[in-house]
Amino acid sequence: MKFLVMNGVNLNLTGMREKSVYGTETLEEINAKITVFAENNGDSVDFYQSNIEGELVNKLHEAFLQGGYDGIVLNAGAYTHYSYAIRDAIAAIDVPVAEVHMSNVHAREEFRHHSVLSEVCKGVVCGFGWKSYAMALLGLKK
Ligand code: DQA
Repeated sequence: MKFLVMNGVNLNLTGMREKSVYGTETLEEINAKITVFAENNGDSVDFYQSNIEGELVNKLHEAFLQGGYDGIVLNAGAYTHYSYAIRDAIAAIDVPVAEVHMSNVHAREEFRHHSVLSEVCKGVVCGFGWKSYAMALLGLKK
C-alpha cells in the first residue's frame, strides 16, 4: 500500500525544539525510520511538511484529486487544536486520515487536550514518539 505522511507547523524543527518533549531526532531521521518500517511491511511512503495551513489543505486536496494514496498520516502540530480549514479538508476527501502526535497531548497543557481534527479522522495515535507514525500506518493498513 502507499501512504502519505504529512507534518504541519513547527515539525520541521523536530530534534532542535523542546527536546525534552519531542526528542533529539530530526524530522529527516524520523522519516528515514518510518520509511524502513513501511518497507518492512511491504508499503511505501511519501513525505510532506509545511508550516502553512493553506499548503497543508492543498496537499490534502491533491492527495485526493490525483489519487494513488491508500491513506494519510497527519501530524498537524498546533493546527490540530484550532484549524477548521484542515478539518474540513479531511472531511472533504475520500482518503482515510490518521491523526498522530509524538507527545501525549493529553498529559500536557489544557489547550492540547482538544483536537478539532479527531472527529473526521479514522483514528488517533499519540505519545509514542516516531512510533506514533508507525502505529498509524498499521492502523490504516487494517
Ligand atoms: C504535536 C503536539 C501539538 O500539540 C504541538 O502543537 C506540536 C506537536 C506532537 O507531535 O506531539 O507541534 O502535534
